[in-house]
Amino acid sequence: MAEPRKLTPAEEARLAQVREQFKQKQDISKSLNSIKYRIGVYSGKGGVGKTTVTTNLALILAKHGKKVAILDCDIDCPNVTRVLRISNRPESDADGKMIPPEKYGVSVMSMGFFQENEDEAIVWRGPMIHNAINQFISKTNWGDIDYLLCDLPPGTSDAPLTVMQTLNLDGFIVVSTPQELAALDAKRSINMIKKLNLKVFGVVENMTGGIFGTGGAKIMADELGLPTLTEISLLSEYSDNNEPAILNNKQCEKEFSILMNNLEKITSNMD
Ligand SMILES: Nc1ncnc2c1ncn2[C@@H]1O[C@H](COP(=O)(O)OP(=O)(O)O)[C@@H](O)[C@H]1O
Ligand SMILES: [Mg+2]
Repeated sequence: MAEPRKLTPAEEARLAQVREQFKQKQDISKSLNSIKYRIGVYSGKGGVGKTTVTTNLALILAKHGKKVAILDCDIDCPNVTRVLRISNRPESDADGKMIPPEKYGVSVMSMGFFQENEDEAIVWRGPMIHNAINQFISKTNWGDIDYLLCDLPPGTSDAPLTVMQTLNLDGFIVVSTPQELAALDAKRSINMIKKLNLKVFGVVENMTGGIFGTGGAKIMADELGLPTLTEISLLSEYSDNNEPAILNNKQCEKEFSILMNNLEKITSNMD
């Protein structure tokens, strides 16, 4: 039998690349296997409360005995580590995988860990985001997790789209405020999620009461046939100068336990 032809350097390189991609896919599915539910927290605009909802929801789930992790993939504004005041970086395990630091019983991986300083904006394009998210997922030792909450980039641009496609999320919690404009943006983003054949669990109306009024997000949710998962009041306790609100305030804890119960109902129906 003839000797197999020797591969050219270009072919060798291509083969190595394919092997690497294949290994990454295997690592990703292994890594995701230990996570029961993957949930995106999303909004049409920035500043409506995604990070506030992600962190408080994670904390209340953890308080009720669930194993919870946050993946902060708001690429331009990865704020979770700042809000939870996490200063330590991931450590490596024996296999060289990253172990996310923990705070209040919640494991946190953040794009912010890879920024040189807090003010540095990350200007990444689709393929780079895709690659970074893949690395995040495949190189993290999550351990057994019930809920992975992903704080997503806002809007309908390349960044949130890439993140959504890469993470293969089970569903989304859409955050909006009572103001009509924010609700309109939310509607646009909900339609985008639906176009991608992804599932929207429901809408959270944040900053309800006070100068923003009440009910705008709920009206929108009703129009789209989606449940309102909770209403979160405009309260100084939620401001990110303080400790996470659900830890210190009964009303905040109540507003988030409604969200937690609704989410648990939805996910238990997925089993
Ligand atoms: N219900 C609320 N009451 C008072 N302040 C809030 C509330 N929700 C969010 N905030 C504050 O508004 C700002 C934006 O919220 P944030 O969660 O960071 O939004 P996003 O992640 O969508 O950009 C933060 O300073 C946060 O502390
Ligand atoms: Mg945020």
